[in-house]
Formats: sequence, C-alpha cells, structure tokens
Amino acid sequence: MKLRDISTKEEILAILEEQNPGNIEKITQEAYNVKVENIGSKIFLRGLIELSNRCCKNCLYCGIRHDNKNVFRYDLTDDQVIESALFARDAGYGSLVLQAGERTARPYTARVTRLVKRIKELTNGEMGITLSLGEQRREIFEEWFAAGAHRYLLRIESSNPYLYSRIHPKNALHSWDRRVQAILDLKDIGYQTGTGVMIGLPYQTIPDLADDLLFIKNIGVHMVGMGPYLTHSDTPLGHLGVTSTSLDLTLKMVAALRLLMPKINIAATTAMQVIDPYGREKAVMAGANIIMPNMTITEVRENYQIYENKPGIKDDAALSKSKLEENLKKMGIEIGWREWGDSRAFVKKA
Ligand code: 5AD
Ligand code: SF4
Repeated sequence: MKLRDISTKEEILAILEEQNPGNIEKITQEAYNVKVENIGSKIFLRGLIELSNRCCKNCLYCGIRHDNKNVFRYDLTDDQVIESALFARDAGYGSLVLQAGERTARPYTARVTRLVKRIKELTNGEMGITLSLGEQRREIFEEWFAAGAHRYLLRIESSNPYLYSRIHPKNALHSWDRRVQAILDLKDIGYQTGTGVMIGLPYQTIPDLADDLLFIKNIGVHMVGMGPYLTHSDTPLGHLGVTSTSLDLTLKMVAALRLLMPKINIAATTAMQVIDPYGREKAVMAGANIIMPNMTITEVRENYQIYENKPGIKDDAALSKSKLEENLKKMGIEIGWREWGDSRAFVKKA
C-alpha cells in the first residue's frame, strides 16, 4: 500500500478501508513518522473556553441546537472568561480557543470583540487566540481579526452538499455554500484557518470520507479538527438508531490526513476521548499534534453537551490539565509550553 506522497481518492480509500490491525498499525506509524519529519514530535495545547451554549442554529446532530428545550442556557460573564484565560496563561498554555454556538446579533459580536481585546491586553499579546463561533458576516470576521484573534475554526461538517442537507434543516441558515464561502473569507482575511468533518455520520459512506479529505486538501487550510460522530438522544439524528463511530476509523482518517498534508495542525479532539479514554493520545500517535483541554469553569460544563457522555464535566481546569499531562507523559509525548504552535503549512489565499 502506498503511504508516502498520497494524493488520489483510491490511495485514501485503501487506507480508510483497511481492516487488518497490523496494517492499520503500519499506517498510523507512518503518519506519525511523517509528522515528526515535517513538524516535529511536540504537541501544542490550546485552553478551550466554552463562552456560551446559546445557538441560533438547529443542526440535526447537536445537543445544544436551538430547539432543544432540555438545555439550561448560559453565558459566561466577562470576569469568568478572563479568569479562565489567565488560568490558561499561568498554566503555560500558549493559546486559547473561545468556542460557543452561533449567534450574530450585534451586541454579542461586539462583546466578543471586547473580550478578545481585553485578553490580548491582559496577557501583553502573549496568548494566541483562536475563535470557534460559527458563521459570521465577513465584516465581523474582520473586526475580530483586528481585535487580535488570529485563528478561526469552522468545520464544513461534510464536504458532500447532499449529505450536509440531510443532517441540517433545509433553510438558508444552514447553507453549505455559505459555509464554504465563510471558510474562504477567513483565509482571505488572514486567519490561520481550520476546518473539519464528523466521521461516521448517518448516511455517510467511506467514499464520502475520502472526498472530505480531498476537500480539505483542495480548499487549503492550516488546521483540521475532526472527530467521531456521537449520538445525542435529544436530537433528530440521535433517534435514528445509528451508533457512534469506532476509534479505528477515526485514527485512519487522522493518519490519511497527515499523509496528505504533512505540515498542517491536526487536533486530537475531545470526541475521540469519548469513544476511548486514550483516544486523543492515540490520535497523537497517528499524526495529530494539537490538544484542546477544557478550561471552562466546572459550574457550566455539563450544559455544553453537543454530544452525550462528554468526559470531564465534573472536573475543573486544573484537573483537566493534570489528567491530560499525566496521560501524555505515560506515552512519552512532549508538550510545547508557552508557544502559539501556529501551523507551518504554506496555504494559498482564497
Ligand atoms: N457528535 C460529534 N460531533 C458533534 N459536533 C456537534 N454535534 C456533534 C455530535 N453529535 C461537532 C460539530 C461542530 C463541533 C463544534 O462539534 O462538528 O462543528
Ligand atoms: Fe449550533 Fe454548532 Fe450545535 Fe450547529 S453544531 S447547533 S451551529 S452549536
């Protein structure tokens, strides 16, 4: 099987369809080697702060979708956000991710601008800031960039527009074309831009996943966060009886992506930890190089359940940090403390 310099759908499919455990091991090992040769063996940590679980959208798979009435909705106060940001800084994290559902009302977007500026000021510009706040008008992306955010995550969720339409309500708020445009806008503005997909969605096929990887390669991004699809019983898709994804398929996706894009940042996501307690560490051994430990205050964590069985909802930031560090140490994985850990991939603008 060809593993170096892969580029075709057939080569990707051969990886994703591999079932033999020995061969899967060879694939992930080669992806790890490619990572080390291109960007080194260190991983970078981003402290994740879940600003708010309010969302105007209704993605059919997501536990905090607007219409789920069983969720207690919260907004962290500015002081709570700043406190978590300073905790992350003092803990030696080089950067932060501010994540929330999607909201576009002006008072909200203006508040984000203020928060980004405030965190930058309080940390003397030291903290790298990544935003994961959904689709916004280009002017808002520009405003947040000018305020000091320099990375943005916006998953395409699926590169197949038909599949996308089956896992989202059919209305203008959930448009695949608009989402692609938003990713292009982010790149054009100058953000280190991240995208990604869910793996094992209802109706999704292995060729769809191969196309997802080709889409990611073709659109050209600095970072990717992918994770297994996990069911949530309060969602329309959660009622279909489709079970969550295997870690093996997830690891094969990570490895294939690393082989396709040797220099980008690839996250080992929290969803991987749901299907295997060492899921994130195994993803690091298959080519991932970013982990985003949860820094959100314990009081609100349980309300940010995009999927069920989210790990660590009773933990605080210090415990999330120490548990992860212990696991990483056991596996001999080195952390890049106090570094932004920007992607070293050269990405053409839109
Ligand atoms: N399972 C796995 N991932 C999910 N996301 C949302 N709902 C689920 C789910 N049920 C992911 C989406 C979104 C990210 C914030 O969380 O990919 O972009
Ligand atoms: Fe909102 Fe994101 Fe959940 Fe969709 S996936 S409902 S945009 S929080």
